[in-house]
Amino acid sequence: MAINSATAIAHPNIAFIKYWGNRDKSLRLPDNGSISMNLEELTTQTQVTFDPNLPGDIFDLNGHRQAGQSAQRVVAHLNLLRGLRGIGTKAYVKSENNFPEGAGIASSASAFAALTVAGIRALGIELPERDLSRLARRGSGSASRSIPTGFVEWYRGASDIDSYAVSIARPDFWELSDLVVIVDEKHKLTGSSEGHELAKTSALQSARVLDADKRIERCREAIQTRDFALLAETIEMDCNMMHAVMMTSNPPIFYWNPYTIEIITAVHAWRKSGIPVAYTIDAGPNVHLICDSEVETLLSDKISNFKWVKQLLIAHPGGPARLL
Ligand code: DP6
Repeated sequence: MAINSATAIAHPNIAFIKYWGNRDKSLRLPDNGSISMNLEELTTQTQVTFDPNLPGDIFDLNGHRQAGQSAQRVVAHLNLLRGLRGIGTKAYVKSENNFPEGAGIASSASAFAALTVAGIRALGIELPERDLSRLARRGSGSASRSIPTGFVEWYRGASDIDSYAVSIARPDFWELSDLVVIVDEKHKLTGSSEGHELAKTSALQSARVLDADKRIERCREAIQTRDFALLAETIEMDCNMMHAVMMTSNPPIFYWNPYTIEIITAVHAWRKSGIPVAYTIDAGPNVHLICDSEVETLLSDKISNFKWVKQLLIAHPGGPARLL
């Protein structure tokens, strides 16, 4: 194979209905389906160059050569992609995130979505969106949802073949904002992959999963009818159920800190006063405020009154993973 290179860009996403727990760890087949929104302003840009002269794969992230687990995950994904062509050619992967590392934004979603799209093109393969989503899923579950545009549903599926994500609404369908309230910039103690494993040790996980389809339907309906009240109620419940599983795993994982609870309390008061805002929280203490874009400035001002907030990032519904 001659030297072949491609560059892709992808956005991270915020889950409205959470993916937590796998029924097949290596294939990343999730316990339940999930729904998310891509985040336009946040990006990962990745160039993949297959070069027959390279003795091994190289992965540079934000200008730093990676080793250890993060490099191993990239190599494993490159192996999966190379397997489609039955070749062993090594690759140079150069990746840049435009968002701060300590922001608690899960970068694995945009990372593996961009790596998949760039890698597949660099191998000279053309694949439909669903196959790109299936492949991205193998790198990081949430990456499957960063392939399609806008508001996205990832099907639980029965097997590797039908567990992929599709767009349920374009980014401009609903003017929502995600105000990411950073209350802690430290790296999380328990990573998502480890957390997915622990989910099965919680007695609450089966109840959460049993009820997930109902929440998926409600969330999909809320998006398709732009029903903010329904969205708010559904995503907060889903978030709380995931954190209940985390807190009751063995060993338990507590991602929240006292500021997290302060924000939750404030969101409830704001919504009661008529402001269309809801919260959702991933595997960390930082809070995503999902709101109607009309109240974005009002809420930013309110957040700025909390002097302990480290940073506020604002993002809007984003496009698909794509080649540059
Ligand atoms: C809490 O996709 O990061 O953000 O498949 O092990 O890479 P891996 O996990 P990951 O898990 C995301 C968990 C979550 C909820 C969600 O995004 O749905």
